[in-house]
This record gives sequence, structure tokens and C-alpha cells, in this order.
Amino acid sequence: MITRLAVSGYRSLRDLRLVLSRLNVVTGANGSGKSSLYRSLRLLADVAQAA
Ligand SMILES: Nc1ncnc2c1ncn2[C@@H]1O[C@H](COP(=O)(O)OP(=O)(O)OP(=O)(O)O)[C@@H](O)[C@H]1O
Ligand SMILES: [Mg+2]
Repeated sequence: MITRLAVSGYRSLRDLRLVLSRLNVVTGANGSGKSSLYRSLRLLADVAQAA
């Protein structure tokens, strides 16, 4: 299980640090970065697949 996530310099995410638990709910206004958050996870997954 991923328990902590840090993203910096990806799309609009300048310096994001999150503590995650088994269930996480992401909310926010349009353009606040929700999709950027899951895209960053997708990018990490793709990088791991390529390794
Ligand atoms: N390469 C980039 N560099 C900087 N900012 C970017 C980049 N790509 C997208 N953005 C900006 O990131 C912000 C967050 O976008 P994102 O799509 O993650 O928001 P969202 O919370 O998913 O919005 P919605 O609720 O409309 O789906 C937007 O203002 C977008 O213009
Ligand atoms: Mg979105």
C-alpha cells in the first residue's frame, strides 16, 4: 500500500506531500489539480512498468 506520496513540478503540482490511507477521497474545485494527482500516479506506474 502506498502510504505517502510526494509530487513536485508535475503539471500544476508544485510541491505536494500527502499521507494516504486505505481509502482516500480527492475533492476540489475545477482546475484545482485532482486529475493532475491521479495522472502523477499513472506516470509513476508507467515508469515502474518500464523498469
Ligand atoms: N503542464 C502544465 N503546467 C502547469 N499547469 C498545468 C499543466 N497542465 C495542466 N495545468 C493546469 O493544472 C490545473 C489543474 O488541472 P486538473 O485537470 O488537474 O484539475 P481538476 O481538479 O482535475 O479539474 P476538473 O475538476 O475540471 O477535472 C489547471 O489549471 C490546468 O490548466
Ligand atoms: Mg479533472
